[in-house]
Amino acid sequence: MVKARKYVVKKHFQGVPKKEDFELVEHELPPLKDGEILVKAEWISVDPYLRAYNANVPVPYDQFSYQVGLVKDSKDPNYPVGSRLVSHKGWCDYAIVKDEEMPNPAERIYKLPDLKGLPPSLCVGAIGMPGLTAYFGFLEICKPKAGETVVVSGAAGAVGSLVGQIAKIQGCKVIGFAGSDDKVTWLEKELGFDKGLNYKTGDVTKALKEAAPKGIDCYFDNVGGELSSIIINQMNAKGRVSVCGSISSYNDDPTKLPKATLLQPALVFKRLTIQGFIIWDYKPQWEEGLVKLVEWVKSGQLKAKEHVTEGFENLFDAFIGMLAGENYGKAVVKV
Ligand SMILES: NC(=O)c1ccc[n+]([C@@H]2O[C@H](COP(=O)([O-])OP(=O)(O)OC[C@H]3O[C@@H](n4cnc5c(N)ncnc54)[C@H](OP(=O)(O)O)[C@@H]3O)[C@@H](O)[C@H]2O)c1
Repeated sequence: MVKARKYVVKKHFQGVPKKEDFELVEHELPPLKDGEILVKAEWISVDPYLRAYNANVPVPYDQFSYQVGLVKDSKDPNYPVGSRLVSHKGWCDYAIVKDEEMPNPAERIYKLPDLKGLPPSLCVGAIGMPGLTAYFGFLEICKPKAGETVVVSGAAGAVGSLVGQIAKIQGCKVIGFAGSDDKVTWLEKELGFDKGLNYKTGDVTKALKEAAPKGIDCYFDNVGGELSSIIINQMNAKGRVSVCGSISSYNDDPTKLPKATLLQPALVFKRLTIQGFIIWDYKPQWEEGLVKLVEWVKSGQLKAKEHVTEGFENLFDAFIGMLAGENYGKAVVKV
């Protein structure tokens, strides 16, 4: 019998999630049946969608997210003891998983890709769901061309930091918005963004006009709200907007969401294309995306910064810290 621990969400979050919304539950795992695998979590992800999806999931529920686990026992010859896999088992230290079709394809386990020596933790970051989000969400929807101007919001986070670097690989000029001067410096000095802007200070409209005097061709939107309205209203004819998320309002009351400047005039007169996506839609192409991401990280073209919190007992703090903007790059917990 293996003793396991998991975080159960007991209450729907009101505003910023609270520690009392979770319960840490200890339970015993049953012996493995045919095809089952026992995994010990090594790296657990904390992501904005854990906040965004909360209202839609009936409570209580086990807190989901991606994790990299080490196989400790196995009744599936494809996953031998000592190998690693990615599952959507989330905030638990031990779990039993099975490689089978799931109603939500995102929940199917998979083996780590050939990392060519890169660390397994990246499989919940740049070489996992967030990396694929940047790769497909930007390239497939924005369809950037060399020489174009790209703006990314949430630019210092897991997805945004990769989108900006992928845009540089495509030969674009890149402007990133982030929430502190230190983050802005990091974007410019470490990640090679052409310009970083702090969305919390100064006149954002004016600063963006100065940074993008020829207008904006592509916008990768991680945050939504007024900042996105300002950016979209400065776009060039036939510009493309990829809507990835709207973290600026995830902690707001859904019945009283903030209002932002109208977009329709810009959409009409500039003939803009605006498209949202969910990374799970691209699941059939994940393998191909992972190969490319490994190649870029390995070659140094993509810097995959991780913001590591140590300890299973600190998952909640890591989650809240990420929502508050403590992370540079991918927020991840080392178990
Ligand atoms: N569509 C999809 O399939 C998909 C998949 C993955 C992620 N996403 C979305 O992509 C976005 C980024 O996710 P991520 O995993 O890369 O998270 P992340 O950017 O690593 O972390 C969240 C960041 O959001 C910023 N933030 C917090 N409150 C904000 C506010 N009020 N206004 C503007 N920024 C704020 C913080 O940075 P600052 O210090 O800069 O404020 C924080 O670091 C989220 O909206 C997420 O929901 C969508």
